[in-house]
Amino acid sequence: MRQKIVAGNWKMNKNYEDGLTLAKDVIEGLTVDHCTVVLGTPFIHLKAVSEIVKNVENVYSSAQNCSSEPEGAYTGEVSAEMIKSSGADYIIIGHSEWRAYFNEADEVLAKKIDLTLQNNLIPILCCGETLEERETEQHFTTVKRQINNALFHLSEDQLKNIVIAYEPVWAIGTGKTATPEQAQEMHQHIRSLISDRFGDGIADDLSILYGGSCKPSNATELFSQKDLDGGLIGGASLNASDFIEIIANLKDY
Ligand code: 13P
Repeated sequence: MRQKIVAGNWKMNKNYEDGLTLAKDVIEGLTVDHCTVVLGTPFIHLKAVSEIVKNVENVYSSAQNCSSEPEGAYTGEVSAEMIKSSGADYIIIGHSEWRAYFNEADEVLAKKIDLTLQNNLIPILCCGETLEERETEQHFTTVKRQINNALFHLSEDQLKNIVIAYEPVWAIGTGKTATPEQAQEMHQHIRSLISDRFGDGIADDLSILYGGSCKPSNATELFSQKDLDGGLIGGASLNASDFIEIIANLKDY
């Protein structure tokens, strides 16, 4: 069964105290039986937020990255195993900010995906084209390469534990959202790539989230598209009532 998911990505926002307040506010305002909710926090908040969501049905915590190495002398890095031990259930992998600012290559992402799965965590793999790639009509090729390089080495069983987030770079934090048609077209493309490699059944069950300036005012239209199974929310996840409203918008689809 395809799962509906709304995941927040707090990025590098909220000090420890404010982050915990946000997590508690979200939980207090939520009545979720229609989808899974994920809170993607900075590492510093992860253990405490995992404790807060532990006994709340359908709500989970997520890291925003992990090391591509299992352990060792990598100063400042955090391993997938450490993330698991904090009580988290998800890791966001390959966010475009990592790809752009830290030159994260597809091959590194494949290693991170493997470590995430080995530690029984669910990766939310991000993909998406830049503005230049869209304007030169390379968006389908770019996303195909990203999906292929990060995921195509996996087995069918492993792929059942993956979530994909399509986040066009030009829509992230810009206030410029992909139109529902643009998003649907790309989500359908992603599902067909997965279907070609892993079969229809696995592709049908795959949750594909949309991210990029998603907010209460546009979430309904985006979520109404048939291949959109939820959202990965940046800015609007920093405000409990906006985030809760976005989650509520997924209810009817
Ligand atoms: P915004 O919702 O702020 O555009 O960010 C989207 C995003 O990058 C989520 O990972």
